[in-house]
Amino acid sequence: MVKKLFVKTYGCQMNVYDSARMADVLAPLGYVPVASPRGADMVILNTCHIREKAAEKVYSELGRLRALKEERRRSGGRMMIAVAGCVAQAEGEEILRRAPQVDLVFGPQTYHRLPELIARVERSRSQEASGGAPGVLDTDFPVESKFDHLPEAAAPQGVRAYLSVQEGCDKFCTFCVVPYTRGAEHSRPAADIVAEAERLVGAGAREITLLGQNVNAYHGRAPSARDAAGAAWGLGRLIRRLAGIGGLDRLRYTTSHPHDMDEELIAAHGEEPKLMPYLHLPVQSGSDRILEAMNRRHTADDYRRTVERLRRVRPDLALSSDFIVGFPGETERDFAATLRLVTEVGYAQAYSFKFSPRPGTPAAMLEPQVPDHIKAERLATLQALLDAQQAAFNQASVGRTLPVLLEAKGRKPGQLTGRSPAMQAVHLEAPERLLGRIVETRILAARPNSLSGRLLGPAAACGPAGGQGLANAEVRA
Ligand code: SAH
Ligand code: SF4
Ligand code: F3S
Repeated sequence: MVKKLFVKTYGCQMNVYDSARMADVLAPLGYVPVASPRGADMVILNTCHIREKAAEKVYSELGRLRALKEERRRSGGRMMIAVAGCVAQAEGEEILRRAPQVDLVFGPQTYHRLPELIARVERSRSQEASGGAPGVLDTDFPVESKFDHLPEAAAPQGVRAYLSVQEGCDKFCTFCVVPYTRGAEHSRPAADIVAEAERLVGAGAREITLLGQNVNAYHGRAPSARDAAGAAWGLGRLIRRLAGIGGLDRLRYTTSHPHDMDEELIAAHGEEPKLMPYLHLPVQSGSDRILEAMNRRHTADDYRRTVERLRRVRPDLALSSDFIVGFPGETERDFAATLRLVTEVGYAQAYSFKFSPRPGTPAAMLEPQVPDHIKAERLATLQALLDAQQAAFNQASVGRTLPVLLEAKGRKPGQLTGRSPAMQAVHLEAPERLLGRIVETRILAARPNSLSGRLLGPAAACGPAGGQGLANAEVRA
């Protein structure tokens, strides 16, 4: 019997990847993804705990779902509500207490057990026909890796695909919940990743983004090593191997920690044309005092040097970052150091946040906390600078020819959208049959968040990676 599955995803790309894999786990049980929670048999909220706002969204969504669950019950059906992800991990018991409509809570490392967990919910329901049975909770950090138990990905991800290679974090930045919600750092064996990448490419992916909370700390078992304690590959080595997959045109990775940018990975940026010239390398702050209090393990100058080394091998590298303003004890001077760093490095785009004290993290207890109006002021100043940099970066693309990987239909009829090597969204008029291809595009105009351009003849030469992609696409077409 077909059952309707609705999954809503919050937070980072890792959650997006996990949501797709949850659907893979549920497919053999007859669950088919649907686009709306109304009338669904199973609703999963895959949640994010990174900032207070993110976590609070879950409770308001659960309020709306309660009404839908009731509506479904009145029409003789049943809706199972599950909360997954990082809020589930951090406050599973509180969720069950605050939201009794929730049937199931499970963390990021246990979703391979979903069939068994669902069976447990059903058993407890049949025992207590009134529906008043307490929800099922599974927020273990199991010894086994979920990756050894997940089925092969069932649903093709499309032209741009994500592949989780590393999970968890041992860095314990003092503001961050991730080491608590995702658990200890763990890298998947290289051979498993290569096999998954080959499957993704077979299903139509032209670009793969390797995912990890700390992706450049990757140290997975080398394909030739017999046991987990044997030789390991770093991310640079893994990227070189993946670049050898025919039909794969572009590689990216996210999110990296500045402390883990090693020689091999930096060299890969210079030597591997499939590795796109765009890197999200969060620095958080430009003040050494604050970086120290954040336990980031590097100084602002270490970061500058890393950027310099990267740009030496790949001068066109576009950078992105995350910033936190108003970390406890941040003074005007510290904040000025952040602005200075931003001005010196120059970002193609970036994310910036007000510090949000998270329960259980050391920074939540630090004094003095910065008042909200100061955080807001600093955020506005920083964002104005970052927006101006992004606008200038996009403007500099006008008049250039960029290889664009076409991935979707645009909003206007006849329009397609895709991504440039530096991750800029590009809109252009092009026939639909070019979806999934890398096409040369003359950039005609820049907006704050996107570019628009004109399709050039498919035979014209692109940059190294784009050219190769076009050739591959032509062969396959
Ligand atoms: N692993 C990544 C970051 C994951 S969280 C890294 O090491 O960079 C994504 C971003 O959320 C962080 O880079 C940080 O800028 C922001 N963030 C994390 N905790 C936060 C908090 N307590 N308050 C505000 N922003 C936070
Ligand atoms: Fe969080 Fe720091 Fe780990 Fe990134 S490196 S996930 S910010 S603890
Ligand atoms: Fe959020 Fe968890 Fe990702 S807290 S950012 S969903 S790792």
